[in-house]
Amino acid sequence: MVIGRDVLSRTMIAHDPVTAYNASPRLVSSPNVVVIGDVGSGKSSLTKTVYVIRPLLLNKRRACTFDKKDRGGEGEYAELARAYGHEPIKFAVDGTGTRLNLLDPMISRGTGMVGQMQLLNVVARLAREDQALNEWEEEALRAALRRTVAEHQEGRTPTLADVLPNLSRVADMDDYAGLSPQAIDALHQAGLSVRFTLNTLLQDYGGLLDGETSKNVDLRGKLTVFDISQLPDQGPAVPAVMAIGHMWLLGRLREDRGWATNCIYEEGWHIAAGPSAQLARSNQKLSRGLGLSNVFVFHKGTDIPPGSPGMAMIQEAQTVHVHRQTLREDALWAARTFAFGTDTAQQIERLADGHHIFKYASRPETLVQHIRSPWETQITDTDEAFKAAAGIQG
Ligand SMILES: Nc1ncnc2c1ncn2[C@@H]1O[C@H](COP(=O)(O)OP(=O)(O)O)[C@@H](O)[C@H]1O
Ligand SMILES: [Mg+2]
Repeated sequence: MVIGRDVLSRTMIAHDPVTAYNASPRLVSSPNVVVIGDVGSGKSSLTKTVYVIRPLLLNKRRACTFDKKDRGGEGEYAELARAYGHEPIKFAVDGTGTRLNLLDPMISRGTGMVGQMQLLNVVARLAREDQALNEWEEEALRAALRRTVAEHQEGRTPTLADVLPNLSRVADMDDYAGLSPQAIDALHQAGLSVRFTLNTLLQDYGGLLDGETSKNVDLRGKLTVFDISQLPDQGPAVPAVMAIGHMWLLGRLREDRGWATNCIYEEGWHIAAGPSAQLARSNQKLSRGLGLSNVFVFHKGTDIPPGSPGMAMIQEAQTVHVHRQTLREDALWAARTFAFGTDTAQQIERLADGHHIFKYASRPETLVQHIRSPWETQITDTDEAFKAAAGIQG
């Protein structure tokens, strides 16, 4: 996959993490990618061309993106999605958008209840501002989930709302018959506390999470765009949709072998800094087996807690594109994290738009100018840039 030109040697730079990962011997130990840089430094242009437009020219290549940037009422990938004949899948909290069911069978495909439990756990944690469930609560949730699934064995697909009543009746399950009254009581309390958390979540985000998954969520096309640009920046909605979408994608890929999929997280920070990182990380091996390459795009690394699962995920990525980071501490973070040479941090502070430091595996880094075709330029340049170029205000 052509990226652009090595600024020093003026030679072409090409790299495809999927091909590099599948080569024998492997050229990279992970197909994951990190794209980083200030707002307006060229991250999205690079991501759209190198990780969406160009790979989609190839056979059995697919892309999926979580599109966070609002451009006049919809995401910035809308135009691109339509160019491939697909409508973006839009999410809104007011019930006008698409719904994702946390208990969708696509999520449990191949993992049984394990995947569903992981996901419910993460979503409950997101709803509690990153406070994890304790062991009692996890047990109560698992019991309620098991009961819900059993109740719906024959009938319709269960949804999150079906789990709620079962969270209040955990203690009467046969499995717990031998427990002391105190333990039964503690389990009952734990069930209620999870119920209240999930109930609040459904009150606030019912339009998003209450009910069966909308029919337009399919992921069979060459390009799937999850438009999350209208979701609030704060709160669990964005990371919850990212987590559910991620699990859905894994389920879909299990029934569709032989494809390679680039999954792009614009505002990847939502994944890297929150509890979803654990979910993504625990599914790493599975993801690789299914030909999934995750591309995390974010502004700066200094917000990501050292030692967190998000940080580990970033360090594992073997392909990095670092755009301009004007703040010295951000440039230094990148240079340290990706083991760049000593002068590179200074270079990062002054990079021009569309220029970045590129590195894969343990090779030395290169200063690359990303080069686009006229069509790619047209579809990747933001309106703001057009206006600026034409001297139009606003
Ligand atoms: N490869 C490139 N060559 C020249 N200019 C570019 C290139 N990529 C991006 N730009 C310029 O930078 C602007 C911002 O790019 P964008 O990808 O939207 O940045 P980011 O996603 O980092 O905020 C574009 O509108 C364009 O004017
Ligand atoms: Mg962008």
